[in-house]
Amino acid sequence: MTDDPVVCVCAGVHEEELTSLIRAGVRTIDGIRMRCRANTGCGGCREDIEELIDDLAGSGPESAPEPHAACRSIAHRSVGPPAGRVTHLEEHRAHR
Ligand code: FES
Repeated sequence: MTDDPVVCVCAGVHEEELTSLIRAGVRTIDGIRMRCRANTGCGGCREDIEELIDDLAGSGPESAPEPHAACRSIAHRSVGPPAGRVTHLEEHRAHR
């Protein structure tokens, strides 16, 4: 089993790719969506991605400009796991 968990199952995006983007200055869900297509399917990974952004927000360039997101659909902004649900990333970290 790899130690690089899949965070977004819909797009097949692993944690390492997301952390690289965040460390390079991407700080929003829209920025992540545009660069690697994570969180463009069911939306269930949003909480995990936001957690990674929060965890790594102090690393990497702070002033990198955030380009406009490719998708402005309100449906993509309002999705996410139900409150209290344990996310994929939380489950993975609990089993390390
Ligand atoms: S798991 Fe990321 S959009 Fe479905």
